[in-house]
Amino acid sequence: MDYEVVLPAAGSGKRMGAGKNKLFLSLANKPILIHTLEIFQKDRNCTGIYLAVKPEERDYIQHLLNDYKITKVKGLPNGGKERQHSVHSCLKVMNDVEIVLVHDAARPFISQQVIDRLVETAYEKGAAIAGVRAKDTMKKVQDGIIVETVDRENLWSIQTPQAFRYELLRHAEDVAEKEGFLGTDEAMLVERLGYEIHIVESNYENIKMTTKEDLLFGEAILKNRQM
Ligand code: C5P
Repeated sequence: MDYEVVLPAAGSGKRMGAGKNKLFLSLANKPILIHTLEIFQKDRNCTGIYLAVKPEERDYIQHLLNDYKITKVKGLPNGGKERQHSVHSCLKVMNDVEIVLVHDAARPFISQQVIDRLVETAYEKGAAIAGVRAKDTMKKVQDGIIVETVDRENLWSIQTPQAFRYELLRHAEDVAEKEGFLGTDEAMLVERLGYEIHIVESNYENIKMTTKEDLLFGEAILKNRQM
């Protein structure tokens, strides 16, 4: 079951506070970006990778791709102001693909099993996203005061990859652009058009490298995998 993947990689990583794109930071002596790319480079079903990049980082990323023999990259379009714009700019340069996955370049621990299930479900149903069940007690807070304890039973934390029929996601992104709507993930753009989106249960290792502690968690995950 073939698919192509879009990896937004044009963020500034302010919350990491590294003074540079957090994707260039190393985990076990390899840039985070390369850890993520190698997953898709290895997956035989992945037939193309599109990376949204900052123009000033394109040359450096091209060097990394050469050094680590990442050969599946078909496009390195300019990213945009928000993540959604970066994803959209990749979709605009893709063609002839049935299923597209969108995956944060900053999530280097996604499992092959979850990718396979997402692709399968997207082929069957049109849209599927990765998520995990909420672990903590969830409360709605307003002005520092608890307003409500939300029933955790039906709450999920949403991750990437998010998998869609290309035509569906492209349409949802085009509509959002036209209407000036900004979502926090791809699914939100598709949901608002009334389509059903299926959840694929992922795992808690699929963290997004966001703050400094995540680097520690990341090193621990890699160490555990080597044992
Ligand atoms: O900032 P955050 O970690 O939530 O971003 C998620 C992913 O989206 C990262 O891989 C980041 O590089 C990417 N991104 C992007 N363009 C933006 C903002 C974020 O490609 N304008």
